[in-house]
Amino acid sequence: MYVCICHGVSDKKIKKLVVDEGVTDMKGIRRCTALGSQCGKCVRQAKQILEDIQSYSELKQAS
Ligand code: FES
Repeated sequence: MYVCICHGVSDKKIKKLVVDEGVTDMKGIRRCTALGSQCGKCVRQAKQILEDIQSYSELKQAS
């Protein structure tokens, strides 16, 4: 699913950046993809995806 239509950034790309490349915040995602640099409509959803991935990772580590 595309999160940022303007720059063609998918939820899978965001997950890959966080899990495989160690990106930990929106600043890092923006630096790697330009997400949010045009209309900005994607930023809220991208933040939610980032938080969901981080919460899941924390839960996984705790178990
Ligand atoms: S949808 Fe991401 S900048 Fe427009």
